[in-house]
Amino acid sequence: MNHLAIRPRRMRRDAFSRRLMRENVLTTDDLIYPVFVHEEDGRAAVPSMPGVERLSIDELLRVAEDAVGLGVPALALFPVTRPDAKSLDAAAAWDPQGIAARAIRALKQRFPDLGVITDVALDPYTTHGQDGLVDADGYVMNDATVEALVKQALSHAEAGADVVAPSDMMDGRIGAIRSALEDTGHVHTRILAYAAKYASAFYGPFRDAVGSAGNLGKGDKFTYQMDPANADEALREVELDLAEGADMVMVKPGMPYLDVVRRVKDAFGVPTYAYQVSGEYAMLKAAAGNGWLDERACALEALLGFKRAGADGVLTYFALDAARWLRER
Ligand code: PBG
Repeated sequence: MNHLAIRPRRMRRDAFSRRLMRENVLTTDDLIYPVFVHEEDGRAAVPSMPGVERLSIDELLRVAEDAVGLGVPALALFPVTRPDAKSLDAAAAWDPQGIAARAIRALKQRFPDLGVITDVALDPYTTHGQDGLVDADGYVMNDATVEALVKQALSHAEAGADVVAPSDMMDGRIGAIRSALEDTGHVHTRILAYAAKYASAFYGPFRDAVGSAGNLGKGDKFTYQMDPANADEALREVELDLAEGADMVMVKPGMPYLDVVRRVKDAFGVPTYAYQVSGEYAMLKAAAGNGWLDERACALEALLGFKRAGADGVLTYFALDAARWLRER
């Protein structure tokens, strides 16, 4: 006779008890939708990211309307610049008539309650595709870059951005941006720090989407983005960004770095986000497109995994689809 007192399967037997013991839940409130805005008319597909398109500002407003209708809290805006907007000093990055500033103003005017998160980094604006300004040897200079990032962040705040999100990994940029925002009266502008951003090969499709892959060429970002081998260093980076005035912190990429998400959440207990990056999206789309994976089930499972790891939200190219799927449940 088998007298097992403890049978974990008992609680899994019926839907009601599975629901009662469920520890984590993915909701539309957890989703941030990254969008690409270009200076052309209409839409352009991104071949390595099926279902993702570069959008004109008019098309962006249509997508934003869908996001609002579905209850997605915020968009993360990524500009795609023309070659003539790229230079060594990246000056177009803080142009009040530039693509980012125009897109922010259009969004906030039309949808004041939709959160607008902007990317603070110079890579769309530099001829070499690095996130900062380079010296004669091609090394990305820290302090000169921070000065440029401050101008860029202020131009976004000025245009109405709710959240500025430095994705560049320079030292001291959060503190510099925070004090500049305070000095100029932008006390409500939140900072989402890409605090633990790794030098990842999973960004490939994004670089196709923003057109920086060609500019970057054989260049890499190892002198500023983190080594994928490190996790203690991520805690140090998060600690610094919080001390400098970040309101929210991010770990990026997502799925290969869930251990880092969990450690950050446990160590600091602050609003913590993960970025399910372009390469993660591309993998799921490719497998689903070949009929090898169930797209909806796998995407929702991956997104729930971020919640279980401790993330408060996820930047994901699946955001609108996920919101639809969650609504259909
Ligand atoms: C650059 C930036 C990158 C991403 C967001 N901002 C790429 C990079 O660091 O080269 C990647 C996002 C993704 O892959 O989805 N500032």
